[in-house]
Amino acid sequence: MNADGSDLKSAADLKPATATTAAPQKTLPRHVAIIMDGNGRWAQARGLERIEGHRRGVDTVRMISETCTELGIAAVTLYCLSSENWKRPQAELEFLMHLLQQYLVDERQMIMDNGLRLKVIGRRDRLPAGVLAEMDKTLEMSAGNNGTELVLAIDYGGRDEITSAVRLLCQDVRDGKINESEIDEEMISSRLYTAGLPDVDLMIRTGGELRVSNFLLWQLSYAEFWMTETCWPEFSRREFESALESFVSRDRRFGGLSVGQ
Ligand code: IPE
Ligand code: IPE
Ligand code: MG
Repeated sequence: MNADGSDLKSAADLKPATATTAAPQKTLPRHVAIIMDGNGRWAQARGLERIEGHRRGVDTVRMISETCTELGIAAVTLYCLSSENWKRPQAELEFLMHLLQQYLVDERQMIMDNGLRLKVIGRRDRLPAGVLAEMDKTLEMSAGNNGTELVLAIDYGGRDEITSAVRLLCQDVRDGKINESEIDEEMISSRLYTAGLPDVDLMIRTGGELRVSNFLLWQLSYAEFWMTETCWPEFSRREFESALESFVSRDRRFGGLSVGQ
């Protein structure tokens, strides 16, 4: 047994979460969310253009997708572009759109080979037509897969998402479908972009910042956080496994008390 009370010795001990496990805190997360940060700083520290960091980051995305498949993690959400990232220089934004479109073409086979089901959350109306076309093709092609749900947050903002859910609720009240007094948490959850996904269990941020940056504000309410200085292009499978091992060893109380207290 480890000092933290877990029996986990290595990543080989990591087991997929199951509904029948007696001690849920000893299982892997069902939903992992990642703020893939530090691409620009990684590149600049090596005398490269910031965009090289974004390019290299695609390799880490592939590693995460394959590892989650292998471990049977139900969903992984990756923060690709925030609503606030439109403040960046035009040239960087154009490169990010080009990279995204390329990703959706180049990684289609990897997505299919791993049985991943693609889902995209965020606003569509500000994305270029070329990106939307490749996105829809990959969404359609992978829709029947039943492996890990690969959720890409693109032009995503937590406040924007909650605002749009409030608008949908108002519409339903106006249409007489629901009564204002009936509105509960479930009704809000089901109108978010993430409807149908479990809440986030583990949130990882690379690149050293200790903030949420408008990511999944509602869904993170009881998530465990794991932050690292490592920049996204260098985030390794070993370090991902360390984050999972840390998660497995934690005592999640959800406002209650530990088992046996
Ligand atoms: C994260 O890396 C990727 C996006 C936000 C698109 P950054 O581009 O933010 O890299 P840093 O944080 O400036 O190093
Ligand atoms: C968060 O990173 C967004 C993504 C990783 C896509 P940022 O680099 O935009 O976050 P801030 O600006 O440092 O908070
Ligand atoms: Mg950043």
